[in-house]
Amino acid sequence: MKALVYHGPGRKVWGNVPKPEIVDATDAIVRVDSVTICGTDLHILKGDVPAVTDGRILGHEAVGTVESVGSGVRNVAVGDRVLVSCITACGACRYCRAGSYGQCIGGGGWILGHRIDGTQADYVRVPFADTSTYPVPAGVTDEQLLMMADILPTGYEVGVLNGNVGPGDVVAIVGAGPIGLSAMMGARLYSPAHVVAIDLADSRLEAAKGFGADIVINNGREDALAIVRDLTDGLGADVAVEAVGVPATFELATQLVRPGGHVANIGVHGQPATLHLEDLWIRNVTIRTGLVDTSSTPTLLRLAQGHQIDPGRFITHRFDLDQFDEAYDIFARAGDTGALKVVLARV
Ligand SMILES: NC(=O)c1ccc[n+]([C@@H]2O[C@H](COP(=O)([O-])OP(=O)(O)OC[C@H]3O[C@@H](n4cnc5c(N)ncnc54)[C@H](O)[C@@H]3O)[C@@H](O)[C@H]2O)c1
Ligand SMILES: [Zn+2]
Ligand SMILES: [Zn+2]
Repeated sequence: MKALVYHGPGRKVWGNVPKPEIVDATDAIVRVDSVTICGTDLHILKGDVPAVTDGRILGHEAVGTVESVGSGVRNVAVGDRVLVSCITACGACRYCRAGSYGQCIGGGGWILGHRIDGTQADYVRVPFADTSTYPVPAGVTDEQLLMMADILPTGYEVGVLNGNVGPGDVVAIVGAGPIGLSAMMGARLYSPAHVVAIDLADSRLEAAKGFGADIVINNGREDALAIVRDLTDGLGADVAVEAVGVPATFELATQLVRPGGHVANIGVHGQPATLHLEDLWIRNVTIRTGLVDTSSTPTLLRLAQGHQIDPGRFITHRFDLDQFDEAYDIFARAGDTGALKVVLARV
């Protein structure tokens, strides 16, 4: 079969590799029908995620068709169409029993395209298939579903739920990439007073207007703190979401939040950020971090089925399953190409 194989920083090859086989009784082999690329895949290609080693097949998001199952798989059958989630869940460990699948200590968590071979391939081995896949529901397209493998639950769980967004809130979201946009889409479900999008790229701010932001700020030339304070009688945002992953944006989020408010950090950080406790200690601020659990996937599926959210909005570019070079190129140059999410589908 063909797969996109990582060969160290900056090197990836779409080439022939052995087809995966069932290893554990709880495995399924899934034929990949459509797949996408994540900003995290770009981090990996930059060498930012050293756990990903030479020879690893990339990718942690897919919709596919079950080709075979191990003897211990109960709920997933050959021929079923499924969403393969970015988070694998053993279903039995302490964290899985609490719905914190991202923290799974029973062999799951974020493993696909990270610690084991991933989804950017003709076929993928999915461990713990019963608890790590979702059946394709009626009335939701593969493209819409693919957005539920990672970005939508991430924005919703780590941004909106951790940020405790409520009716009437002013929600400031720093970073309007796919993750920040997902947080905007999710925040709108709670009827906030304002959703403020903050980014350096005008193209991303333009996109933000379509995802629920009613105020957009280019913090390359505008003073985000002053604008948010003006909007909130000098107090600051009820919720500040960080969706970039650099020290400056984390520090901005902690400045934007009002006393008693919530900061929700989504960004993956590779560098230390300064926590200004000398300013923050007196402000009753809650700061939360998180890796997505994808425990909200069933909720998001129902919202899509009920037309309360349109996950298809993220898709800006479409490719055939063997066009990974082209798709990565477009996705990596998002500033120029306007890419939000790209989909590669079997024709
Ligand atoms: N916590 C999790 O479970 C989880 C899951 C998936 C992704 N992530 C992380 O979320 C972050 C966002 O992901 P994405 O795919 O949307 O990334 P992206 O690179 O597409 O978007 C980031 C946006 O931030 C903007 N930006 C950069 N510097 C800025 C600054 N100083 N001020 C304001 N805006 C700035 C960029 O213009 C861009 O639009 C990444 O760090 C990613 O790794 C976290
Ligand atoms: Zn991802
Ligand atoms: Zn577990």
